[in-house]
Amino acid sequence: MTAQLRIEGVYKDFGGLEILMGVDLQIEPGERHAIIGPNGAGKTTLINLITGKYTPSRGRIWFGGMEITSVPAHGRVRLGIGRSFQIINLFPEMTVFENMRNAILSKEGIRLSVRRALKGLRGVTSETERVLALIGLESFRNVPAAELAYGKQRTLEIGLALGLDPQLLILDEPTAGISSAETREIAGVIRRVTERKTLILIEHDMDVVFALADRISVLHHGRILAQGSPAEIRENPEVKEAYLGHLEAVG
Ligand SMILES: Nc1ncnc2c1ncn2[C@@H]1O[C@H](COP(=O)(O)OP(=O)(O)OP(=O)(O)O)[C@@H](O)[C@H]1O
Ligand SMILES: [Mg+2]
Repeated sequence: MTAQLRIEGVYKDFGGLEILMGVDLQIEPGERHAIIGPNGAGKTTLINLITGKYTPSRGRIWFGGMEITSVPAHGRVRLGIGRSFQIINLFPEMTVFENMRNAILSKEGIRLSVRRALKGLRGVTSETERVLALIGLESFRNVPAAELAYGKQRTLEIGLALGLDPQLLILDEPTAGISSAETREIAGVIRRVTERKTLILIEHDMDVVFALADRISVLHHGRILAQGSPAEIRENPEVKEAYLGHLEAVG
């Protein structure tokens, strides 16, 4: 079976400071894969290399068997890679519906010529409605994003990443800063929207990681320190030392 995503020997430095130093990672179609690791480990940087925001200093990346190392970001969206951001990314004065439609429009790169406008918009409207139903925000469609509870804003962010129905969904700390009740709700949404998709989840909340992930990779000092099932990772002494033990000490 062709891997959904394959990363081989990837390095990334910023002005000579090496952040990633030989990352190898293979993610299978349909798996939910969590990437964990301490602050500053390079998790978001790795995501930025997968989505094409940055190019690696060395190494190669394949998506569904096709090499994408030099494919630009918009091309990767078209190939089926969708992402959310660690920092909230909504237009606050626009409604839930308008935010969602805007994301779908910009992802399709639609240039609304007068002749194509009506036909194009119908498709965009039905796609917008499909995603709002999937994330459970239909009843909030006319509410300005700024007036949503914070957890619902984060849910809408997940929706924005789902425009164009990506095969691979990448979520960067979707539960950051939200209450534990809302966290459980979002974990449920993530599970639902990733049925028959591949998920890469970056997350510091270990309850969410252990509840959702089929496999976990631990990024530490620019490399994958360990990889395995949630049970394997929980029991791994190196991981406890480098990351989980530290979390327990803090939490
Ligand atoms: N564009 C950039 N220019 C310079 N340095 C950067 C850039 N992006 C990231 N870095 C640096 O790379 C390191 C890793 O950052 P990154 O955001 O990937 O970490 P992270 O694992 O996502 O951390 P966190 O858990 O806090 O989100 C940090 O030291 C950061 O300052
Ligand atoms: Mg990050």
